[in-house]
Amino acid sequence: MTYPADLARELTGLESGARAHLERLMSTWSLLSDLSFSDLILHVPIDNFSLALNESPAPERGHVVPAKRVSPGGGLHFVVLGQIRPATSQTFFEHDLVGQIYVADELPLVCEAWKKGVIVFGELDEGREELTRYQCIPVRWNNEVIAVLSRAWSPLVGRKTGGLERTYLTLFARFAQMISDGVFPFVTDEDTFEDAPRVGDGVIVLDHLKHIIFASPNAVNALHRMGITSSVTGSTLLELGLRVEAIEVAYLKRLPVIEEFERKPDVIVILRCIPLIEDGNVVGAVLLIRDVTDLRRRDRLLLSKDAAIREVHHRVKNNLQTISSLLRLQSRRLNDNAAKQALSEAERRIAAIALVHEILAREPGDQVPFGEIMPALIRLARDGEFHGREVNVECEGSLGEVPAEVATPLAVVIAELTQNAVEHAFTEHFNGAAHVKIDLAIDENTQCLHIDVTDNGVGFPEDFNIDDTKSLGLSIVRDLVRSQLFGDLNIVNGKDDNGGAIVSIVIPNKS
Ligand SMILES: Nc1ncnc2c1ncn2[C@@H]1O[C@H](COP(=O)(O)OP(=O)(O)O)[C@@H](O)[C@H]1O
Ligand SMILES: [Mg+2]
Repeated sequence: MTYPADLARELTGLESGARAHLERLMSTWSLLSDLSFSDLILHVPIDNFSLALNESPAPERGHVVPAKRVSPGGGLHFVVLGQIRPATSQTFFEHDLVGQIYVADELPLVCEAWKKGVIVFGELDEGREELTRYQCIPVRWNNEVIAVLSRAWSPLVGRKTGGLERTYLTLFARFAQMISDGVFPFVTDEDTFEDAPRVGDGVIVLDHLKHIIFASPNAVNALHRMGITSSVTGSTLLELGLRVEAIEVAYLKRLPVIEEFERKPDVIVILRCIPLIEDGNVVGAVLLIRDVTDLRRRDRLLLSKDAAIREVHHRVKNNLQTISSLLRLQSRRLNDNAAKQALSEAERRIAAIALVHEILAREPGDQVPFGEIMPALIRLARDGEFHGREVNVECEGSLGEVPAEVATPLAVVIAELTQNAVEHAFTEHFNGAAHVKIDLAIDENTQCLHIDVTDNGVGFPEDFNIDDTKSLGLSIVRDLVRSQLFGDLNIVNGKDDNGGAIVSIVIPNKS
């Protein structure tokens, strides 16, 4: 892969200011290519030819130019820094010419433009049906010619010439002169603006007094949508009722200006005003206009849908938290310990579900970054301290993003298991530092999610069997894992000295 910036730095003696000028030219030249209905190629003389032969991959690209053509013959050589094809017409060069090196003799017209510093027209026999026509434009920067922009076309290729084509070609001729004068590309150009209009979107040409002298059919359509139905030629946009800041600023500063323009009730266009400059004066401007109403409407719709989803999650979370606190209030009024505990467990389960909605309210979408839930889940499990013992709970690994319908049951399951470990593993018979570890992992091959909750406590009772347990917590875990997450779980007691319990869950990842 050859990058123009690398080529320019390695092969040409251009200083950084000149290189930046050429880069700006190449970032705005789709305009030129479209206006001229032609392929454009940027040639730059090579400063260090031996370097080119040794290090550049270009000479090996034999399909375009046979190797002999790049044999060092001394003298002037050019490297192709960039190439662009028109969106308004057929391309003339099928191959990628970037990086190609030519001896000056092979490019007589480019060479002439380079040496004389003027725009050169000519025809060359390149073995096609018809002679290839060339327009070679010297690119000036700081009063010096630093490159040659060549435009190649054939009357046989492309479209018939009508009024629009003639206007565009006249515009191109003006830009060509500006390139040769060193005033195009402009020192600032905001072509990087998202959704910037192109020639195909609509073109309006203004004279030096900002009168419209031409409007392309697409531009006329856009004006119609803005409520301007009268004939536009001869008037200024201001006279037609459109005050476009971009035009005023572009004429004043002699720089291109881009503006997103909203016309009530609901038409939005992007306008790019590029001044035409002759002998230092603004002699007119090209206005590229693009109707982005539908685009923006879609953006807004998406945004509002997004906001609505967030809001719903937010409310669900709030409601769940309210339910959770209602249960807490109620449990405080009870004297029966078993009833108190039942309510507080229900409260905790609901809080775990609320956590998922809290994340979804922040980042709506189908996927939940599960890692963000874990700290709160762990806090939830530790909230009930048991046997007055400090239990260290840690989490390792990650599940990445999981679908929302997996996140909710999974949060409840992990909360339940962690809670169990804290609650049951470290009875008064346990000595040592109480430790619970939650391991999260995704299997690279099967994409299954693996969740292990391990503790170093007393282990499950000998006769424990997950399939026929009647206790509520693990019944919930079992049913959620099997029937909602379509996975499986396995409970074993640790065999080493640490003892403890290992609860392993595997669930297929649907994302
Ligand atoms: N990590 C663990 N270590 C030892 N025993 C456990 C562990 N987790 C669960 N148990 C045992 O399994 C039983 C059932 O747990 P569970 O269904 O959550 O009910 P509960 O927590 O309400 O007792 C517990 O009472 C306990 O005896
Ligand atoms: Mg439990």
